[in-house]
Amino acid sequence: MTQLLDKPSLTTAFQRHLFGKKFVWGTATASYQIEGAFATDGRSPSIWDTFSKTPGKVQNGDTGDIACDHYHRYENDFDLMQQMGFNAYRFSISWSRVMPNGRGEINAAGMAFYDRIVDALLERGIEPYVTLYHWDLPQILEDTGGWLNRDTAFAFAEYTNAVTQVLGDRLKNWTTLNEPWCSAFLGYGVGVHAPGQSDFAASLQATHHLLLAHGLTMPIIRNNVADAKAGIVLNPAPVYPASNSSADIAAAHRADGFQNRWYFDPVFGKGYPTDTLASYGAYAPKVEVGDLEIIAAPLDFIGINYYTRTVVKDAVVEAIPAPHTLLGYEYVDLPNVPRTFFNWEVYPQGLTDFLERLQYDYKPKSIFISENGATYQDHLEADGSIHDTERTLYFQQHLAASLEAVQNGVKLDGYFAWSFLDNFEWAEGYEKRFGITYVDFVTQKRTPKQSARWFQDFLLSGEV
Ligand code: FCB
Repeated sequence: MTQLLDKPSLTTAFQRHLFGKKFVWGTATASYQIEGAFATDGRSPSIWDTFSKTPGKVQNGDTGDIACDHYHRYENDFDLMQQMGFNAYRFSISWSRVMPNGRGEINAAGMAFYDRIVDALLERGIEPYVTLYHWDLPQILEDTGGWLNRDTAFAFAEYTNAVTQVLGDRLKNWTTLNEPWCSAFLGYGVGVHAPGQSDFAASLQATHHLLLAHGLTMPIIRNNVADAKAGIVLNPAPVYPASNSSADIAAAHRADGFQNRWYFDPVFGKGYPTDTLASYGAYAPKVEVGDLEIIAAPLDFIGINYYTRTVVKDAVVEAIPAPHTLLGYEYVDLPNVPRTFFNWEVYPQGLTDFLERLQYDYKPKSIFISENGATYQDHLEADGSIHDTERTLYFQQHLAASLEAVQNGVKLDGYFAWSFLDNFEWAEGYEKRFGITYVDFVTQKRTPKQSARWFQDFLLSGEV
């Protein structure tokens, strides 16, 4: 194997075996971001098809119509993944592909695609981890209110019932939702994601229906899948105070209510945080009797997607419907800190801190880092190679941060790098590349970047 570490600073003192024999090593993707084939084999439009085709919503007017054409290229993609040494893969199912009407009839041709995917992974010794909902609600359900309509949670249960019955004999690792904070807040609160609504109260109601959907489907997964492992993926943004003043520390706690506790507390059976609920006042969601018990369905694991942290300072509370105004904080952009092309601060310590807090505050049975990664501007060398040194370093720093947490007693069982391929980065289109594999979106050629080579080296040379 070629020597890939072209900078002394990239040398790391940690090796695969330190994470333990059973540690799961994977990469992650999501259906709308990679599949393409948007109108093939009976797939109906999702809210992301509609949103990306609405002028001005996505950079350069990009859409997921073709994306990485993974729908037709999955065999080659999985060969590559196998060569890199990964033993797991996290992907999501497109609801519109398997149930184009949102509920009721299964579309056999669409379902067959996921059947092939699962077999193709297992044939290569790669364990499938599936996400049932990674933001691509069938448009037909949005037309009847989307996540603002309580009924959508029950449609999700029907969809889950159908998919688990078909794939559950081979697919054991099930995640209900990916990052409900994004679906609810970015989609219904500030309108930068599909379906593009901007109403804070609506976003809180959407959260509640998403969490209800999660809770309703946990027992369905367990019923239909023998030996299932079922959980949810949340996206914590650990919040730090801009100073040591007690006012800023209190502001950070309030911001944590919006960003983290609003999701972690109910799924771990604590209900919505009372301080945050009180500050939201009239904007709080309508919760029916029994909902919180449904949402508290026991989890086999929790997945966390970690990219960066948040820094805030105290601010005056204002009766304006937005989290920072109602909760009294302001975001602070620290100067002179390393940042990715997304302008997100690189802060590996936040991962260690949050993992430890998760372990001690919520006591999950098992934790996965279900996404972690970075976008940088990739530069193609004359020989076609990509030396994504900053991204490689980002992975190494975050793996070191994860290992520290493991050594401090956190039950971390796996790590999934985001992402296997450069792909459709939502409102940012194709401009923000997160892949360890470079994709030429004209020719669909795949080229593993230095970061992929580094993983290959790390995973294969350190095999236990
Ligand atoms: C996460 C999403 C994932 C990808 C990364 C960069 O919030 O789950 O689809 O867009 O961010």
